[in-house]
Amino acid sequence: MKLKTIIITGGAGFIGSHVVRLFVNKYPDYKIVNLDKLTYAGNLANLKDIEKKSNYEFLKGDICDAELIQNIFEKYNFDGVIHLAAESHVDRSISNPMEFVKTNVIGTVTLLNAAKHFWKASLDSIPKGNLFYHVSTDEVYGSLGKKGKFKETTSYDPHSPYSSSKASSDHFVRAYHDTFGLPVVISNCSNNYGSFHFPEKLIPLAINNIKNNKPVPVYGKGANVRDWLFVEDHARAIDVIYHKGKVGDTYNIGGNNEWKNIDLIKLLCKVMDEKLGRKKGESAKLITFVKDRAGHDLRYAIDSSKLQKKLKWRPSLKFEKGLKKTVDWYLANEEWLKDVTSGDYQKYYDQQYVIR
Ligand code: NAD
Ligand code: TYD
Repeated sequence: MKLKTIIITGGAGFIGSHVVRLFVNKYPDYKIVNLDKLTYAGNLANLKDIEKKSNYEFLKGDICDAELIQNIFEKYNFDGVIHLAAESHVDRSISNPMEFVKTNVIGTVTLLNAAKHFWKASLDSIPKGNLFYHVSTDEVYGSLGKKGKFKETTSYDPHSPYSSSKASSDHFVRAYHDTFGLPVVISNCSNNYGSFHFPEKLIPLAINNIKNNKPVPVYGKGANVRDWLFVEDHARAIDVIYHKGKVGDTYNIGGNNEWKNIDLIKLLCKVMDEKLGRKKGESAKLITFVKDRAGHDLRYAIDSSKLQKKLKWRPSLKFEKGLKKTVDWYLANEEWLKDVTSGDYQKYYDQQYVIR
């Protein structure tokens, strides 16, 4: 019997590296091929612990390169695709929307074309044993008021160039199922946190700045709410959905863990005071309110009851515990932080955060 051969795109990024690690360790009989362009957000240091495993292979490449993707599909004859490669930072999407259209929309359609061609997908006979799993975000649903949660049936209403590009890619994935019989599944997840998170996103950025006694920029009044999920719980959800999800379906993934940004930052400052042996209240002095993000969505919250009931997944970790674990990881991995913040990041950071 042919071993399961799965291509994971964006496997050198934050979430992708956790998914690759989980699959390589849990399924020694599978062959896991990680395709990543290694943009500023991709780093092979994220995968040091598994890079020598015999069921793992890394390929450097761009998902927009149709010829390369065709060649890779031909060579490896993949059973499955788990597609995470993307431009993922909302602020960058405001400065440079076209990069998001290229990777998130054109890159996704390039992969869909290859899967459709090689699996000979058709509406008359949807291929069995193949799956195109598209990893998406809750941001496609737009912004909530004070009440309610995003369900799988919530209408799309994206506001940022990032969420618009992800919404577009989701629509293409569904269109390839409905029009060409491609076996697909989609998940839309809330904000992740944990190790290997690039320090331009709120939690790792704040940890890094607090550690270095730099201002912690809080956009607007810090009133925006996000639903935070530990990244390893997301990877577990992807495993469950890949193996047991229904073809053509969508699953929402979330932490049932809503935090106002300012409350989260205050909790993080408290944890950092403890971990760094600082006086109580010392780190909170670094909190600096800055100009709000344009088009800033007020609130995200996920209803993950479908995934919980049908596929028996649930978040494993309480937020306070996950946050402490995350802080411990960043404090123990200074080299990693130095390494990832040495490229174009600092220049970008300097342009972005204009303190009011
Ligand atoms: P990330 O920015 O940390 O990693 C993205 C990875 O994709 C990087 O390794 C990068 O090198 C690679 N990549 C970018 N462009 C590429 C291209 N053209 N070809 C090949 N590789 C390319 O992102 P992340 O936070 O790990 O997010 C992964 C996926 O999960 C994304 O699709 C994102 O939309 C989705 N998602 C993220 C979150 C979150 O909280 N971070 C939540 C829900 C969904
Ligand atoms: P982020 O981590 O960029 O994720 P997303 O925009 O995809 O939700 O931001 C999380 C929240 O934190 C969001 O409301 C924007 C806010 N934020 C700040 O207040 N300061 C910052 O420096 C950053 C990066 C984000």
